[in-house]
Amino acid sequence: MKSIYDKIVNLRLQLKYHNYRYYTLDASVISDDMYDKLRDQLIKLEKKYGKNNLLKTDNPILKQIGSKKLHIFSECVHQTPMLSLKSTNNVSDIIRFDEKIKKRFNTVNTIKYYCDFKIDGLAVTLLYKNGILVSAATRGDGWIGENIKNNICTITSIPKKIVGNNIPKIIEIRGEVFIKKSDFLILNQCSVLNKKKIFSNPRNAAAGSLRQLDPRITKKRNLMFFVYGYGVFISNKKIYSHYDRLMQIQKWGFPIHENCLLCNKVVDVIDFYNKACVNRSKLDFEIDGIVIKVDSIFLQRKLGCTEKYPRWAVALKFFSQDVETKIIDVTFQIGRTGTITPVAHFIPVNISGVTVCKASVYNFRILKKLNVFINDYVTVYRAGDVIPKIRAVLINKRDKYVRKIIFPKYCMSCGSKLLHSFNLTTYYCPSNFLCPAQNLQRLIHFSSKSGIYIKGLGRKNIIKLINIGYLHTPVDFFTLTYDKLQVVPGIGKKLSNKIISNINNSKNVRLEKFIYSLGILDVGISIAKILSKYYKSAIKFINTNFQTVSNIKGIGVNISKSIITFLKNKNNLCIILKLIDQLNIFFSSQ
Ligand code: IVH
Repeated sequence: MKSIYDKIVNLRLQLKYHNYRYYTLDASVISDDMYDKLRDQLIKLEKKYGKNNLLKTDNPILKQIGSKKLHIFSECVHQTPMLSLKSTNNVSDIIRFDEKIKKRFNTVNTIKYYCDFKIDGLAVTLLYKNGILVSAATRGDGWIGENIKNNICTITSIPKKIVGNNIPKIIEIRGEVFIKKSDFLILNQCSVLNKKKIFSNPRNAAAGSLRQLDPRITKKRNLMFFVYGYGVFISNKKIYSHYDRLMQIQKWGFPIHENCLLCNKVVDVIDFYNKACVNRSKLDFEIDGIVIKVDSIFLQRKLGCTEKYPRWAVALKFFSQDVETKIIDVTFQIGRTGTITPVAHFIPVNISGVTVCKASVYNFRILKKLNVFINDYVTVYRAGDVIPKIRAVLINKRDKYVRKIIFPKYCMSCGSKLLHSFNLTTYYCPSNFLCPAQNLQRLIHFSSKSGIYIKGLGRKNIIKLINIGYLHTPVDFFTLTYDKLQVVPGIGKKLSNKIISNINNSKNVRLEKFIYSLGILDVGISIAKILSKYYKSAIKFINTNFQTVSNIKGIGVNISKSIITFLKNKNNLCIILKLIDQLNIFFSSQ
């Protein structure tokens, strides 16, 4: 029970933290998908174990829609709660959603769905009494938001007074405030120049702009607004279709994005989604999916809501997309094998909920092929929805301010002349353990899980040990003592004991891991396995020659040259011999 208890408490804390970042600070740090995953895990566990006394809570996270606000603005109680939306990025869930609704009403007849874009901005509610805007608020915790009327009044597309016929007695207009992508880029460019806060995505920029104490700042941000719904709707004119209500709201002077569709069949909904996927990059504002709503107000009422979502609506979200940004610099990193990797830095952009500001370009050949310049506009994406990459340079947008990227000739850390790698794709620093930047990466790799694995000696502690002067080469890991470790800030007595025991455990190491941990250029774990299988002993491996190694099946000429160059280096050899002396390196065929 203890571990389930820990898991639930931990998930609650994580969600609370992410709620706070999202709703209160306008600075979310995880994607919606990731948030949903955490929430689903908690729902599952709470369903199963939540009745346990230990786990009972007066303020369940799952019931909180938003988070507590920072008390800058006065409070504003919504007439009807501002709910969230159930979301998916699986089209088949929409077919299931439709089937479920049909089943609920015991009908095979088609249900009409209203579809529109899910705008990635900030939800606001505008309360009009007899046609006059009386308050405007953020969503807050779903029930109580912040009164931001003064700032809302700076948005020119929001009417302060409703015009037209059948003006409702009371109406809560619900919509999304957002900033255009082009304005967001300009805003961040200015912030870079003025050394001010850079917004990680347009949503945060819109939220930050709306929650300014000075409405003049909000006005400058050129915020936009589209209506997607309403709360209280009291009008003499009875309208029972969501679509018709929105058309009426448009007639009253509110902006509604033209790209909406009333669908008679679920296939039309999917068609709308597919078109939105294709066309989203052409829009000058961020959308992260579409929203599908049962059109009939009668059916909506019958379906009702859970504590968090309406049962009559669902969001169908997109997968990662290409996002446009601008290259601001290209730096060069030294890896553990000495290879120099160009890293492109760009104006931070949000790609499927994650802020990205740099992408590795892997090697100078790719850099050349991309033909990228500093100040170029590019599209970036997250490969496999994770690793940021540059897709393409927007050549048409290139202007006279672009600057050529100069590839370094000498190592930025030790000053050695960089050499061409044998396969000619990259440059590398040949100084191995003698180059400080390279050595740091080598040490981190050596003690990492991919290397011989010394638990507790990660990047941070390795840097501390280098700075104190206890760590120069991998051999020094085995000269560390309890007395040395316990004086290192942040390590202490308890951890020192553990680390010493972990160092001792790491001494039994498989040959392939040992070879891989050395950080030989072009020798990854699969090449290390081939070498290990062939030589079966570390001593035999280090005594090899070019002829032998290049004859091994799977080891090409270039890799052989890298291996021999590494093993011929006197300093490397000295370190390897000392390691062989300290370790119990064994070969195992499994
Ligand atoms: S309908 C009862 N339609 O998404 C909730 N919401 O994740 C009805 N959003 O809080 C919401 N575009 O701020 C709806 N076309 C759209 C939307 C939209 C953006 C936001 C809204 C909502 C959030 C839920």
